Amino acid sequence: MTYPIEKSTGFGFFRGRVALACALKALNVGPGDMVAVQAFTCSALAEAILSIDAVPLWIDITADGYTMDAGDLEKKLSQASNVKALIVQHTYGFAADMDALMGVAAKYHLPVIEDCCHTLFTRWGGKQVGRFGVAAFYSFEAGKPLVAGLGGWLRVNNPHLYEKVAELHKQYEQPGLFEQVRTLAMFIAYSILYRPSTFWAIKRVFRMLAKYGIVRGNYNTVEVDDAASTPTLDLSDFTKGLGHLQEKTVFLRQRAAERSISHRNRAAAAYARNFPLRHDARAENVVLKYPVLVPKKEATLKQAEENSIELSDNYSTPVHPYEGRELEMARYVMGSCPNAEKKANHVVALPCPVSFNDKAITKSIAFLRSQI
Ligand SMILES: Cc1ncc(COP(=O)(O)O)c(C=O)c1O
Repeated sequence: MTYPIEKSTGFGFFRGRVALACALKALNVGPGDMVAVQAFTCSALAEAILSIDAVPLWIDITADGYTMDAGDLEKKLSQASNVKALIVQHTYGFAADMDALMGVAAKYHLPVIEDCCHTLFTRWGGKQVGRFGVAAFYSFEAGKPLVAGLGGWLRVNNPHLYEKVAELHKQYEQPGLFEQVRTLAMFIAYSILYRPSTFWAIKRVFRMLAKYGIVRGNYNTVEVDDAASTPTLDLSDFTKGLGHLQEKTVFLRQRAAERSISHRNRAAAAYARNFPLRHDARAENVVLKYPVLVPKKEATLKQAEENSIELSDNYSTPVHPYEGRELEMARYVMGSCPNAEKKANHVVALPCPVSFNDKAITKSIAFLRSQI
């Protein structure tokens, strides 16, 4: 198996979003330019695009899946004039239709950056994702395929772009020792404590610690000042590289991430038998989480918590967890991506972790069956 994270092709960053912002800068995407990106994603993508004063162009996902719809992409590109790049996300580890999306990108001369934050080893048509576009970015925060506390990586496939990123990367500062040790402590605590049965308890403690600034939360706060016309983002992370301690963790963990593939696939196969999704024969997915649509999402999540059954709400809005004015800030117009909006209202995602035995998988399946 070839590893996607290699020093010879990439660079470390403080988080995945910081890696993406650097890739956009290296592609000369600047103020006022548009970047096409799928709705049904995390606010990190909006942050990265807004951090360079560019504007997201939100593209819908397919009606029967969770990755970008090439038809909607083509339609929106034909109506926009200053789109400079396309980000393709392999949501939950399901490969996006790279044949169709690369075809549209080529037609509009758009460089493609792949969002591989949910997968390291998924393949499309026999080729590992992350190798289709000019670059791909990865995230190492909790809940991702390779956890190092926090962190991000930019893999660069194009030699000319590599030179530009190498030049830019020199300006990124090492996080201070306190921050690196705190991130390492988060990683160690997560590794010791996390099991699907402890998911909700960890989540509650993590949220409380994040509230008091003791650990870094997944989502940066957005200051919503009623007097200001738009909310403001804290962009202080966007000048930082990957800490040395985190980089060491990443390279130690990549082999373990590879060994986890069979565990993840076993859980995903059991879920697929019970909650089938359309499968494309070109995709060999390594699934991080398995999505299921439920009629009453809030009630299902509440009951899962009461029963200590791991279930995530990702994504709960088209640009999770943004709502209202935050969505406006991200230039998301409600109604513009109906598939993403519908799925955000109804999706819950089952975990596919290493520490899941058959009994736990069966219990999760029985619980979700009772919710449909
Ligand atoms: C699809 C996707 N892309 C990017 C990110 C951002 O990663 P990071 O938090 O390392 O910036 C996330 C994080 O949740 C994500 O789910």
